[in-house]
Amino acid sequence: MKEKVNLLLLPGDGIGPEVCIPVKKIINCLNNFTNIEFSIEEDLVGGCSYDEFKLPITEKVISKAKASDGILLGAVGAPKYENLPFDLRPERGLLKLRKELELYANIRPAKVFNSLADASSLKPNIVKNMDIVVLRELTGGIYFGEPRGIFELDDGQKKGINTEVYTTNEIVRLGRIGFEIANLRNKTVHSVEKANVMESGVLWREETTKLHSKEFSHINLKHMYADNCAMQLVKNPKQFDVILTGNLFGDILSDISAELTGSLGMLPSASLGEIGDSKRRKSLYEPVHGSAPDIAGKNIANPIAMILSLSMFCNYTLKNNILSSQIENAVEKVLENGYRTKDIMQKNCNLLSTSEMGDVVTENLKNILEKNEL
Ligand code: IPM
Ligand code: MN
Repeated sequence: MKEKVNLLLLPGDGIGPEVCIPVKKIINCLNNFTNIEFSIEEDLVGGCSYDEFKLPITEKVISKAKASDGILLGAVGAPKYENLPFDLRPERGLLKLRKELELYANIRPAKVFNSLADASSLKPNIVKNMDIVVLRELTGGIYFGEPRGIFELDDGQKKGINTEVYTTNEIVRLGRIGFEIANLRNKTVHSVEKANVMESGVLWREETTKLHSKEFSHINLKHMYADNCAMQLVKNPKQFDVILTGNLFGDILSDISAELTGSLGMLPSASLGEIGDSKRRKSLYEPVHGSAPDIAGKNIANPIAMILSLSMFCNYTLKNNILSSQIENAVEKVLENGYRTKDIMQKNCNLLSTSEMGDVVTENLKNILEKNEL
């Protein structure tokens, strides 16, 4: 009996649809050579949904997302939507998915692939073998806190407000995932906030410390202010294992750590919620790179982040870490063999298009699966 898996694929805007084509080939390959049977439903999110329905995501798609075993999303956003009201912008489609499915734990690995250590803007010895996970809170904090809005003042000025809010539960449920991830890695968590100036940061520190001493005292916990963390990331990134932080700081720190790898086009992410109706954790997987409108439609984007997002799906939703490593290994092999897309091109390497890169990874994966190698 094959294990049946229902995937909702939301290619979205910009390079999203292009990088989803290779991932469909990989899924086909998994259907042919493993005991998993993926069925894919495809739908709209972001600007393409706005073009069709005047909404960045429809209720129908939200329902499909809730019923699925997991969502793979390409990217949302394009310059032509920038003047739309806030609620109709492509990004709102993604934010609504995160919020309605309560996908509160955003895992953003930043790993330097051996063959790409030269690609970083930092010196190779600073980043070689760097392997960090940023765990970002995704459904709370200043992104969603109330009050919010732009209000008129009596003197004719306006006032823009957003509010940073965190509750015990929000901090503890994320912290638990952070300690669990660290437990499978180098057993170090840096909890990052601004407890020197923000009450939400004081609470973050208190609750994380309590959780640590109650359940995870075998993990090494360090506290760090967010500004210092940004500086330490570019000074000595290898001191970090898991960075545990809120929504806004996580947004910023994950961009820094991603760029340290020199290959934004390679980085996947997972957003996890609680266990859903399908007995699996609700989950959404997407590349970190975004819609990259400047290169959209040219078949030059790097599909590896999208492919590695599928690998994260196998790991975190299917709990199949063998399959997940097999996909990762197929990617590593292709890089070792000198195949590159434009964004990671190096001297004496072989330049491939998006679709060609997809084909080479699929071919390598097929070999690995046929021989059942790890
Ligand atoms: C990210 C993006 C999003 C965010 C945008 C597109 C809403 O920057 O996933 O990091 O700010 O969370
Ligand atoms: Mn961001």
